[in-house]
Amino acid sequence: MAKNCIGLDLGSSAVKLTQVKKGRGGTFQLLNFGIEPVPPDTIVDGAILNHSGVVEAVRALFDRLKIKQKEVALAISGNALIIKKIFVPAMTPEELEEQVPWEAEHHIPFNKNDVEIDYQALGGRNAAGQMELLLVAAKKEVVNDYAQVAREASLHPVVVDVAAFAVQNGFEAAYGATDDVVALINVGASLSTINILAGGTSAFTRDVTTGGNAFTDDIKRYLGVSGDEAEAMKVAFSEGDASQDVGRILVNTANGIAGEFQKSIDFFLSSHPDTSISRVYLGGGSARVPPLSQAIEARARVAVEIMEPFKNAAKAPHLDDAFLRTHGAQGLVSLGLALRSPGDKFQ
Ligand SMILES: Nc1ncnc2c1ncn2[C@@H]1O[C@H](COP(=O)(O)OP(=O)(O)OP(=O)(O)O)[C@@H](O)[C@H]1O
Ligand SMILES: [Mg+2]
Repeated sequence: MAKNCIGLDLGSSAVKLTQVKKGRGGTFQLLNFGIEPVPPDTIVDGAILNHSGVVEAVRALFDRLKIKQKEVALAISGNALIIKKIFVPAMTPEELEEQVPWEAEHHIPFNKNDVEIDYQALGGRNAAGQMELLLVAAKKEVVNDYAQVAREASLHPVVVDVAAFAVQNGFEAAYGATDDVVALINVGASLSTINILAGGTSAFTRDVTTGGNAFTDDIKRYLGVSGDEAEAMKVAFSEGDASQDVGRILVNTANGIAGEFQKSIDFFLSSHPDTSISRVYLGGGSARVPPLSQAIEARARVAVEIMEPFKNAAKAPHLDDAFLRTHGAQGLVSLGLALRSPGDKFQ
């Protein structure tokens, strides 16, 4: 079995690292998991503005967890990416290899020389006999920037994945593949990644530019406190401190965020009539804000479950169970990445 990578999720608020040992039948043993904050404005809109801020956080994490392995899998998301299902004339795998970049140009607003293209034949055909492909185009500039920052931290970036697919892989590793229609939503600080699965495959993906920062910004604005104070108040409330002022603000902001998610869910449902979502699974650090899961539940009218990606995994003895339970949701993307093998691309 090919050796797997260290999953390294470079987020705008924190770097997350997961190391696993893959077992048989999709099982894994968790060897390491850690989180290291990055300074504000280090990564903005998916662009790395402060390389040394990321490098220092990554180095600190590798040192603290005493990790020697250098091969890492990274994820990109947001406006660096376009993911689309397209139809192309039926052709052989060799012809696809040659033709897809040209075909892609009709479907993406970028020059084909500026993007890395990847695709997967989905097996479907339309009435005209054309093949259905899942097309992924990622801006080379962003892919190179993420790889470069890993190299600056003395690592070998061997896989650059799409965050939405890492979310799916992390979920399936933790909960098993399902034929049910489920919405996976990873809520970070500045970005949320949605992947709706149907019949065991990804039927809809979208990155929405909202996340936990919205809560912090609103507390700051309404209560006239600093950003650091607002962040601390949000975390305190989420961990059980029942301040009514903070609670009211979080409920209000959560409604706005849930409304954004619902637009994506409605869009998916409008193109998949006769389908209903059976459950929403929440990951990411902001899954921990209780009013958010309540607001999503109220809007989508389905049960919302906060993911615990490491819940059923065998764990190395040095790992702290309580830490994994409370912070596990934040590790979802890095778990998906950790299951990748060198040479894997996107899907
Ligand atoms: N205990 C907690 N209570 C409330 N919010 C929390 C808690 N722990 C983390 N968060 C929030 O989760 C967010 C960080 O989550 P995560 O690490 O998934 O984001 P990120 O990957 O850094 O961000 P992005 O993907 O948007 O770049 C922050 O907004 C942080 O305030
Ligand atoms: Mg993130």
